[in-house]
Amino acid sequence: KRDSKFAELTPEHVKWFRETLGTDSAILDGVNQDAGDDMEPFNSDWMRKYRGHAKLVVKPGNTEEVSKILKYCNDNMLAVVPQGGNTGLVGGSVPVFDEIVINLARMNQIRSFDDVSGILVADGGVILEVADNFLAEKNHIFPLDLGAKGSCQIGGNVATNAGGLRLLRYGSLHGNVLGLEAVLPDGTIVDDLCKLRKNNTGYDIKQLFIGGEGTIGIITGISILCPQRSNALNVAYFGLESFEKVQEAFREAKNQLGEILSAFELMDGRSQKLYNTASGNRLPLEGEHPFYCLIETSGSNTEHDQEKLEAFLEHVMGEEIVSDGVVAQDQTQIKELWGCREGVPEHLGHWGGVYKYDLSIPIGEMYSLVEECRERMMKAGLLGDSEDKPVVDVVGYGHMGDANLHLNVPVRRYDKAVEKELEPWVYEWVQKRHGSISAEHGLGIAKKPFIGYSRSETMVRLYKQIKDLYDPNGIMNPYKYI
Ligand code: FAD
Ligand code: MLT
Ligand code: ZN
Repeated sequence: KRDSKFAELTPEHVKWFRETLGTDSAILDGVNQDAGDDMEPFNSDWMRKYRGHAKLVVKPGNTEEVSKILKYCNDNMLAVVPQGGNTGLVGGSVPVFDEIVINLARMNQIRSFDDVSGILVADGGVILEVADNFLAEKNHIFPLDLGAKGSCQIGGNVATNAGGLRLLRYGSLHGNVLGLEAVLPDGTIVDDLCKLRKNNTGYDIKQLFIGGEGTIGIITGISILCPQRSNALNVAYFGLESFEKVQEAFREAKNQLGEILSAFELMDGRSQKLYNTASGNRLPLEGEHPFYCLIETSGSNTEHDQEKLEAFLEHVMGEEIVSDGVVAQDQTQIKELWGCREGVPEHLGHWGGVYKYDLSIPIGEMYSLVEECRERMMKAGLLGDSEDKPVVDVVGYGHMGDANLHLNVPVRRYDKAVEKELEPWVYEWVQKRHGSISAEHGLGIAKKPFIGYSRSETMVRLYKQIKDLYDPNGIMNPYKYI
């Protein structure tokens, strides 16, 4: 239900925004005019599962404008939703009702880069891939990579504390982000764009914004530590018989590739089959395997690393840990192998929709959830090849290196009966194993009701206190998170 404490937008409000932002391209006005389809991309999420009814989208061009906008909204009790690339997977980046969308796309400048320290300072609206391409020219790398890199923004990445494909090598944004510039709902600009690796002077307040999902302020600038780019990138893709073998392979990879290992990703056979069907792209190996893994190494010597990777593969195949495998021979093949992993989320949507769960689970038990979930769907008569069955399949993939499973249930249509089988069953399953119901995507609106499965009442009370402190009027991304 829409909270009646929030004001409804009037033409006078819009007039103020128009005058303040100065340029017509910075505003999408559905109050005075019919914005038609133009509003749609800002109102609906990547999965097309959540749809809001914003009548106004504003695109500030700098931090001062963000400050003016938020102060005005706060003074006038206008609710807002911060929006980056709108690639989030929990419905956090779109309005629930008529919140004003504050989209950061125009704040896309690199502010500075120091190639000795590797510290990058950039606007929150810089697209991740743009930041990484800029760094590539300087022989550095952004310490985060994910399938949505072409659209997601670094401000959105920080706001969600995105994990991604190389966390096992470069660690979490909680460690790599050195400083932030953020705007509070009352317009205060928090200038904490620290460029120091060490700074133990008081509370580390930026951490509240990292993973804060736009509930206490808008991130307008980021200072981040970027590692040197490796000269050599090698990728292997292999098939395995069981999840036990996947674990053995992971142990061996850490053992033999330790310092050069930069990704260890898992895809079950079903996710690969669906990727193959939906994309039309061939799979790299002959035959079918119940599990596949993708390993990436980043080191300083291509030949040396490739030898290491080939020796690893030979060893694990000799020991019958791995059934079959391939090492990419050139850039095209590296792309093709990564495509089999990165392309999974997009192509699972092919049949109509997907129920997505992003979970941290003790590594040994990670895959049992997928098996149990599939059995559950079968038993309920919901899974099958025919059109009358809503569920296409139950699949698992994810960041094996971080014990982060993506349980996905692709469906022909969203269906209450499927939902009832999945929730809260999945969350109870995870709770019993002391896992997390949100490993890297956040809570947004999708996971908000289930926070209690991963966080105690005391923790939730502390969250509320922080929210009330920073956003006493509750205008920032309401109806989500807390
Ligand atoms: P949005 O979707 O626009 O917003 C996400 C949340 O952050 C919202 O709550 C929004 O209000 C808030 N927000 C956005 N910008 C700001 C800001 N400047 N200040 C304050 N709050 C803000 N996620 C992973 O963790 N790992 C993955 O491997 C991964 N892979 C993905 C692959 C695909 C194909 C897709 C579609 C998504 C994937 N994601 C992944 C999820 C998503 O891309 C990330 O959560 C990403 O960090 C979101 O960035 P964004 O700019 O699109 O943010
Ligand atoms: C991924 O790892 O591919 C992303 O987190 C997206 C997803 O969960 O589908
Ligand atoms: Zn992921």
